[in-house]
Amino acid sequence: KILILDFGSQVTQLIARRVRDAGVFSEVFPYDVSDEFVRNYGAAGVILSGGPNSVTDGDTPRVPQAVFELGVPVFGICYGMQAMAEQLGGKVENGKVREFGYAEVRARGHTALLDGISDFTTAEGHGMLKVWMSHGDKVTEMPAGFKLMASTESCPIAAIADETRHFYAVQFHPEVTHTLQGKAIIGRFVHEICGCKSDWNMPDYIAEAVASIRQQVGSDDVILGLSGGVDSSVAAALIHRAIGDQLTCVFVDHGLLRLNEGDMVMDMFANNLGVKVIRVDATDQFMGHLAGVTDPEVKRKIIGREFVEVFQVESAKLKNAKWLAQGTIYPDVIESAGKGKKGHTIKSHHNVGGLPETLNLKLLEPLRELFKDEVRALGVALGLPATMVYRHPFPGPGLGVRILGEVKKEFADLLRRADAIFIEELRNCTIDLPAGIDQQGIVKNWYEGTSQAFAVFLPVKSVGVMGDGRTYEYVVALRAVQTQDFMTAHWAHLPHELLGRVSNRIINEVRGINRVVYDISGKPPATIEWE
Ligand code: XMP
Repeated sequence: KILILDFGSQVTQLIARRVRDAGVFSEVFPYDVSDEFVRNYGAAGVILSGGPNSVTDGDTPRVPQAVFELGVPVFGICYGMQAMAEQLGGKVENGKVREFGYAEVRARGHTALLDGISDFTTAEGHGMLKVWMSHGDKVTEMPAGFKLMASTESCPIAAIADETRHFYAVQFHPEVTHTLQGKAIIGRFVHEICGCKSDWNMPDYIAEAVASIRQQVGSDDVILGLSGGVDSSVAAALIHRAIGDQLTCVFVDHGLLRLNEGDMVMDMFANNLGVKVIRVDATDQFMGHLAGVTDPEVKRKIIGREFVEVFQVESAKLKNAKWLAQGTIYPDVIESAGKGKKGHTIKSHHNVGGLPETLNLKLLEPLRELFKDEVRALGVALGLPATMVYRHPFPGPGLGVRILGEVKKEFADLLRRADAIFIEELRNCTIDLPAGIDQQGIVKNWYEGTSQAFAVFLPVKSVGVMGDGRTYEYVVALRAVQTQDFMTAHWAHLPHELLGRVSNRIINEVRGINRVVYDISGKPPATIEWE
């Protein structure tokens, strides 16, 4: 396995993703883990991430000395390169200009990392790489024992290597897709240089995870809050595979779920997989507490609080339960690890507000090591339908944040139907790809072509005309976005015919709505949800 030390770059997680894509397990830890931790981790290689600091400032992050004494290959990226160079006796200087964006790097010398990897060859016969750069400082003197591996016009020392000690470092970012050969470079590091085999795959992972869950819980019972979302669903399927009836799921229907979602969850888990699921219809309780409340944050808090309340009542009935299972995934773990703290801290993650410690249960988090796409692959491998596993994300407070202002059951019922029509039409609308493009692995319909799409209920009435009559009814807004990380997003340029079909169907089929609008705001400045 590969140890990644995080110096605070926005894209450190991508390094782990790329290493795992190469079939090698890897984990991210803060840069200031102890020397002892580094020695005991059992890494076949260490990768040092980029970061926002400057090694030319006194009190900035440094690499634990043990990393350089382990005897395994080390790969420094950006800040990781600068820290490595400085600590091993080279020189780093403040660049006068920041370099940000595409750059062309010329490979120099022969090294195990870059030899034979290039995007094009110049007229003079130099192999060139198209890479992504983002740095201010640069290495101006290599440490003893290092040789030049690549350079650019503005950054003469863009990559260096000490092949005796197997230390490699690059100023550019191989982990981002803009660096075309990035995948090949990281693959080369973990396979050729570190000697790791490609043995990180789902079937093996299931066998290992099942064994470890059994060992962890023994004959105890486990409770899990099933939300219908991907993470809790996959966690439920995995734990059920391991311990069968020792697992009980509690599925709280707060009345703010999508159309038929409750039945679908029950069908899939209780009927198909044979999982014990307690379904609690708490619609009245939630609606009662939400009556008269219009502030979005207050609404969120109420939904979170009531969720915990219902869950607690149900779990108190399960006398033998000693464990609370949660669908915490790896990005949650990394996010909460906190820069500058040693080791991982645990965030009691739940998408509705977090469950309280007063339950007195031990935490079981079998997805803690997995990225989202790995969780999905695991779900499919465990027999969950791909349509479920690849669904768009749905917020914990559900339709509660998609009904603007006060939440009423009547509004939720209208919204559910409008939303279902929108989603159905997105799924039915194929995306036309230019002829000759390999259709494999490419999105085929507009549901797959968007990251999140849904309808929003606007509690304002507008005038319309239907048949011979005047109508005075509510408005629904459609929202569809494309995004990588949900931090920023573009509104999706859906075909006009598709929007027209959705609008017609909603207005014709959902009595109570006579106007449909499309949201064309990006994030920022708007958010994806309307509340
Ligand atoms: P925004 O609206 O902030 O949403 O652009 C970004 C992503 O987060 C989801 N979201 C939530 N998920 N509880 C959740 O579990 C929430 O309270 C919540 N609010 C927003 C949203 O659906 C989008 O995917």
